[in-house]
Amino acid sequence: MSRRFAPFLQSLLLPLLLTLLCCGFAGAQAQAVGGQGHPWWQHAVFYEIYPRSFVDSNNDGVGDLNGISSKMNYLHDLGVDAIWITPCYPSPQVDFGYDVSDYRNIDPMYGSLSDFDHMVAAGKKHGVRIIMDFVPNHTSDQHPWFLDSKSSRTAPHRDWYIWRDGKGPGQPPNNWISIFGGSAWTLDPTTNQYYYHYFYAQQPDLNWRNPAVEKVMLDTTRWWYKRGVSGFRLDAVDTLFEDPELHDDPILKGTNAQGDPNIENRYNTNLPEVHDELQKLRKVADESQAVLIGETWTSNVAELDRYYGQGGNELQMPMDFMFTTVNKLSPPEFRRQIAAVESAHGWPVFVIGNHDIVRSYNRYGDGKNNDAIAKLMGAFYLTLRGTPIMYYGEEIGMENNDPTRKEDVKDPIGRTGWPQEKGRDGERTPMQWNSSANAGFSKTEPWLPVPASYKTHNVASELKDPDSVLNLYKKVLALRHTNEALVEGSYTALNQDDINVMSYLRSYKGKAVLVALNMSASPQKATFDLSAQGFSHAGWKTLIASAQASTKGNEVTLEPFGLLIAEVNP
Ligand code: GLC
Repeated sequence: MSRRFAPFLQSLLLPLLLTLLCCGFAGAQAQAVGGQGHPWWQHAVFYEIYPRSFVDSNNDGVGDLNGISSKMNYLHDLGVDAIWITPCYPSPQVDFGYDVSDYRNIDPMYGSLSDFDHMVAAGKKHGVRIIMDFVPNHTSDQHPWFLDSKSSRTAPHRDWYIWRDGKGPGQPPNNWISIFGGSAWTLDPTTNQYYYHYFYAQQPDLNWRNPAVEKVMLDTTRWWYKRGVSGFRLDAVDTLFEDPELHDDPILKGTNAQGDPNIENRYNTNLPEVHDELQKLRKVADESQAVLIGETWTSNVAELDRYYGQGGNELQMPMDFMFTTVNKLSPPEFRRQIAAVESAHGWPVFVIGNHDIVRSYNRYGDGKNNDAIAKLMGAFYLTLRGTPIMYYGEEIGMENNDPTRKEDVKDPIGRTGWPQEKGRDGERTPMQWNSSANAGFSKTEPWLPVPASYKTHNVASELKDPDSVLNLYKKVLALRHTNEALVEGSYTALNQDDINVMSYLRSYKGKAVLVALNMSASPQKATFDLSAQGFSHAGWKTLIASAQASTKGNEVTLEPFGLLIAEVNP
């Protein structure tokens, strides 16, 4: 944390080398345009899949890998180049897979290693790469390493986890709080010591200061790369190391949804050692031209910048979650946020939703114009400079389906935090494929219920409707894959005083695309003087537009939440 980040000059050679090395991937859409000096992941569109909820091929109510394989054509047609699958390793499922009990296998609930191989092959056929989720910070308490570790103070794996004596009878070693509630220390009666867990007690933290832990974890990533994985999303990277002296964290004002005091995680997150480890993980990834995506919750751009590493030697794709904290349709706030990320020294990575946050359809929707707003948001973040990571179902305007009764909640934090914290079930419901029972996800009752809106918001119906959210996503994604300015072009914010219309220019080698998005509930006009950027008013060509959007000379007219993407010429 105290480490100062020295800005680096981005290496020109590395991206070029990576591009040369990775061109062999069959049918990759990422190769559709450009490619000059860009590694594959900079041109790719990523798509997060929560495997429990995508497709249930064996009708047991839970999704599986064969289900994912069966939808490769859908993903390809949508315009997806890589899927990130949240953990599908053997697990007691306390945290739905984020409690891993075997890093080198597939949970039987999802299939087998041969189903995994089949999925990689199916992906390859359709130009869809597979990204796995790597959970380095903690294992399940049922992992054989932990079972051994807790068995005695002298067990071979004792030091693989973080064990300490309490401060006194009934007192944990310090005041660290688990993000999921209660003390971050649990007393194990067998050896009468406490073990540390940043998340649930069933997710003991690994001790990354032990070289044996580091080695087995690095080797595990190598093992999956050899099996055909194109990269990892690294879970909770900031939590890998803790202060060995166990200093108490500063207590802040108030309490959180779990009733614990708010705390600044100064001594148990974001330690400088995290970056040394990311460099090592990156070296292994580079052996296979793989990409590392980071679950990097940061509060400012300097922190985000650090995750790219000196000379780009850490994560290629640290996710910019600060973008998701702009929870209203505010052009000034989005402009500020994009400008900050543009000033970082790496390639931006944009997301608007995932399995831990309320779906974008609800976060941005106003309850009346949600579909128009969903299209607006798609047209927005998919046309920014950088790589987008979509969340399954976002493309059809899937909404949160939060539990209404505590007894229905599956996510443990929703039970302990009820009713203030309802947990994350709402954003993890089954993908809506059609309007038949269970939205076509499964023939049996699914593990989570689908919202009533599946009748209208589903893939089959939306494919037929030219004005659907899905068809807007498809159009934008197709454009992204063929328009050089959108893939390679620089980003220039336009009309920066406009509080209603978010607009920008993406330009590349004398070609440009103008994006204008009405983020307000009233009609808007915006005029653009692009002479400073070397573009004229004449001959704008509309590429994608909402029903009532129009241009006249350099003036754009947009209906409420309307959008326009147009090619402009010199
Ligand atoms: C990450 C995951 C989240 C999980 C946690 C613990 O934040 O995204 O779903 O609960 O890590 O592994």
